[in-house]
Amino acid sequence: MTTQVRGVQLARLLGQWHALPGRRRSPDYAALAGAVRGLLADGRLPLGVRLPAERELAEALRISRTTVTAAYRELRETGHLASRRGAGSWTMLPGTHRVASTGLWTPLDDRDMIDLGVAALSAPAQLVPAARAAAEDLPRYLGGAGYHPTGIIELREAVARGYTERGLPTSPEQIMVTSGTQHALDLVLRLALSPGGGVLVESPTYPNALAALAARRARITTHGLSDDGWDADLLLGSIRQTRPKLAYLIPEFHNPTGHLMAADLRERLVGAAHAAGTDLVVDESFVDLPLDGTPLPPPVAVFDRHSRVISIGGMSKPYWGGLRIGWVRASAPQVQRLAAARVGVDMASPVLDQLVAVHLLAQAPAIVTARRAQLAAQRDALVAALAERLPDWRVTVPRGGVTLWAELDGPISSALARAAEEVGVRLAPGPRFGLDGTLERFLRLPFTLPAAELVEAVGRLAAVRYDLDRAGRPQWREPSVIA
Ligand SMILES: Cc1ncc(COP(=O)(O)O)c(C=O)c1O
Repeated sequence: MTTQVRGVQLARLLGQWHALPGRRRSPDYAALAGAVRGLLADGRLPLGVRLPAERELAEALRISRTTVTAAYRELRETGHLASRRGAGSWTMLPGTHRVASTGLWTPLDDRDMIDLGVAALSAPAQLVPAARAAAEDLPRYLGGAGYHPTGIIELREAVARGYTERGLPTSPEQIMVTSGTQHALDLVLRLALSPGGGVLVESPTYPNALAALAARRARITTHGLSDDGWDADLLLGSIRQTRPKLAYLIPEFHNPTGHLMAADLRERLVGAAHAAGTDLVVDESFVDLPLDGTPLPPPVAVFDRHSRVISIGGMSKPYWGGLRIGWVRASAPQVQRLAAARVGVDMASPVLDQLVAVHLLAQAPAIVTARRAQLAAQRDALVAALAERLPDWRVTVPRGGVTLWAELDGPISSALARAAEEVGVRLAPGPRFGLDGTLERFLRLPFTLPAAELVEAVGRLAAVRYDLDRAGRPQWREPSVIA
């Protein structure tokens, strides 16, 4: 079934398309086509959705139908739209592009691209020896069928030990191994959320979590993070008032802002969630990556007495995303229910990959210590380059994780991302991290690439930023007065 985007929805996503910086003197239809291409390129408008009829979009945008007709024609010519008379127009991938690992579109030939769209490190040196050792271990498993819906016991033990060492006593029966944290989230949502169920998320938040929630048809409300992170009264107040079925939060070095939730709010959060009948899904993807010796507060689940907290985490950030190993920590009965749900999805995770994970976790202190040092150095290089080349951007230096959230000197994030692509820098603009096309003043910058590449990327961004200005300051239209 094709999904359709309605005229008002597309108009909302397009926002101030007619006044985007960098527009120069292009006619309205070209600016509109460019803005639609931008939405496609940064993933806010998916592939294969039916666009509104020309008349409907013209009405929603309050422009002439001829302009929409010309914009759709241009999109067809550039390969972004397929139309059939009487049936409508669908978004599509131009032949010159492919879908990148981020889920974003990218030109086929992008070898010189500095990719700041992905916030993940390359593999550590210990990975190949761990894979060799795992292959040696494999014969121990070959006598069985190899299906372990909750994961192999060695890995569940290792993960459970990690929680216990963090002050949260955990048994292997409380762990289910998944194929990455994203898979863990998807499985938890299948179990805990019926279509139309209410979910509270932070704004900004991790875009692929929003995608998982959209797939479950969640009704999403947001808690806006400030410069200091969570506002305790607002967060607890919205849980009490809206009583969502579920809240998805990233309390450890939040993606994208890098914030760390304080211990007392963790405790109050669990109390408020229990009183409101809300389950908390706590994404601990970055818990291994405090920088500068920042002490970690207790895990949120420490305060849980009623099986309200489901923790999810994985190997992708401290170790390697290509491993595809994640997990859920919940009560033993919840884990059994998740395993039953999983049988209808992917049965179990690969045994060999789980053995690789066991060998990596056995070397956790050495690997993680090196990762933290590497990330701190790369973060400092990025912050220094931004201070030198883009001093008007406001940056809070994160005390952990892999990203920083820069406040730009104007609502230019999408325009900057489009222009940056031309000079070989891929960005994930601010609106990707929200629901409604806002966050144009913000940009997520990961510090997972080597320092020299980060510095080069900032240099290119500074040049592009200057060009946006030369193309003319954005002329924001006055909102029309309704009397
Ligand atoms: C907050 C958060 N959750 C989940 C994921 C996905 O992790 P995985 O690769 O383990 O599926 C990411 C990856 O960027 C993330 O930042």
